[in-house]
Amino acid sequence: MGKSVFIRTYGCQMNVYDSERMAGLLKPLGYGVADTPDAADLVILNTCHIREKAAEKVYSELGRLKRMKEARTKAGGDMKIAVAGCVAQAEGAEITARAPQVDMVVGPQAYHRLPELIARAARDGGDILETDFAVDEKFDRLAERKADGPSAFLTVQEGCDKFCTFCVVPYTRGAEVSRRVDAIVAEARALAAQSVREITLLGQNVNAWTSPPPAGAPGEAWGLGELCRHLAKIDGLDRIRFTTSHPRDMDDGLIAALGEEEKLMPYLHLPVQAGSDRVLKAMNRGHTAEHYLRLIERIRAARPDIALSGDFIVGFPGETSEDFEATLALVEAVGYASAYSFKYSRRPGTPGAAMPKQVAEAEKDDRLARLQALLERQRQAFNAAQLGAILPVLFEKTGRHDGQLVGRSPYLQSVHVSAPQSMLGSIAPVKIEDTTPNALAGVLVGKGEAAA
Ligand code: 5AD
Ligand code: SF4
Repeated sequence: MGKSVFIRTYGCQMNVYDSERMAGLLKPLGYGVADTPDAADLVILNTCHIREKAAEKVYSELGRLKRMKEARTKAGGDMKIAVAGCVAQAEGAEITARAPQVDMVVGPQAYHRLPELIARAARDGGDILETDFAVDEKFDRLAERKADGPSAFLTVQEGCDKFCTFCVVPYTRGAEVSRRVDAIVAEARALAAQSVREITLLGQNVNAWTSPPPAGAPGEAWGLGELCRHLAKIDGLDRIRFTTSHPRDMDDGLIAALGEEEKLMPYLHLPVQAGSDRVLKAMNRGHTAEHYLRLIERIRAARPDIALSGDFIVGFPGETSEDFEATLALVEAVGYASAYSFKYSRRPGTPGAAMPKQVAEAEKDDRLARLQALLERQRQAFNAAQLGAILPVLFEKTGRHDGQLVGRSPYLQSVHVSAPQSMLGSIAPVKIEDTTPNALAGVLVGKGEAAA
C-alpha cells in the first residue's frame, strides 16, 4: 500500500499554491493525498503568520495531532508531522521547543527540500529545521505541474520590500523576487495543455513583478502588463487574473494592458488599508488617499467595467475616530465589489507593535462592524447590478443540487446554473436572474462558448 500525506492549508492563495506544489513534489516518493489526517503517514500544516489568530490556530492543531501521533505510535505505527509556511519561518525554533511532536519545520522558500527532510527524519529522527531563503532554487526544483480543475494559481513573484509597519510578510517571505518569463510561460503552457482555462498570477506584490524579456523580444525589462499580454497568446488560456497588487506599483503599462487585453479579467484587488493620510504614513504605505483615488480614476478610465476589491485594517495604532471616518469616506468614494477587512493585530517584530496609542479592542470591534456593514452593502449593490446581464461564466464544479454547476463570472462572483456535467471546464454565457447573499444564479443562453 502506498503512503499518504495530509496537507492543511491556512492563509493566502500563495499557500494554496505551495500546498499543491508540495503534494506534487511528494507524489514521486509514493505519497497519495489523504482527505483527513487520521490515517496519513505525513501531516503538513502549511501555516499563516499574518495575524495573531492565524498563528494560534497552528498550535491548537498541533495539540490535536500530538494525541493522534501518540495513539498511532502506541498501535505500532508512525506519523510524521511537518510545519511549513510563514509560522515555520517566523517561529521555527519556538515550534520545535514548544511542540516536540513536530518532526520537520520548513519555511516557505525551502519546501522543495521536503523529500530530503523526510528521508532525514526517517533515518535520524529528531527535529529538522529548514528556513533558508532560496526562491530561485525552489522553483527550479519543483516537479511537473498537475492541474486540478479549469482554474489554477501560478506564482510569479514572491516576497515584499515594502515594509508596511503592521506586516510580517517582508520577514517571513523575504525580499521581492520575480520568476523568469520562460519558467512562467512553461508552467502556464503545461496548465493549458491540461485544459486549464483561467490562471491567476500570484505574488505578495504581484505588480512589482519584473524580468528581462525572453530571448528575441525587445526592451530591457518587462513589467506585469507585458507578461500578461504574452501569456494571453497561449491558446486555450482564456482568462488571466493577478493578485495582490500594490498601489505604488500600478504602472501605466499594466493599466494599459487592463484596458486592451480582453483575456485580462475586469477585477482588481488593490488594497489601500486605510483612508487617512496620517495613518497611511504611519503604516509606511508610501501613498496618500488622494493618490489612490486618482489611480482608481485612471484604471476606470482604461477599463470602465473594472470591479474593485481591497483590504482594510481598522484600529492601527494612533487611529482616531476622525481617521476611521476617512476610511469610510474613501470606501464610499471608491465603491467596492468585494473586500476584506481586519482588526489590527499586533505582530511581534514589526514597527507597529512598538507604537504608542494602541487602540482598545472594543473600539476596533466597533469600527470593524461599521466598516463591514458598509462594504457588505456595496457588495450586495454590485451583485444586484448584474441582474439581467449576460455574463460569460467559467464552470468550475458541480453544485449542491442535481444538474447544477457552479462557475465564476469575470468579476469573481460564484454563479449557480442548471447545466449539463459536460460543460464543466467550459465558458458559456449566462443570463443573471437572481442573487443570494453569496452568489448569483442564472440560466444558460444559447449554445457553445462565449468570448470570456
Ligand atoms: N493586522 C491586521 N491585518 C493585517 N494584514 C496584514 N498584516 C496585518 C496585521 N498585523 C492584512 C492587510 C493585508 C492582508 C493580507 O492582511 O490588510 O493586505
Ligand atoms: Fe505586507 Fe505591505 Fe508588503 Fe503587502 S505591501 S505584503 S501589506 S508589507
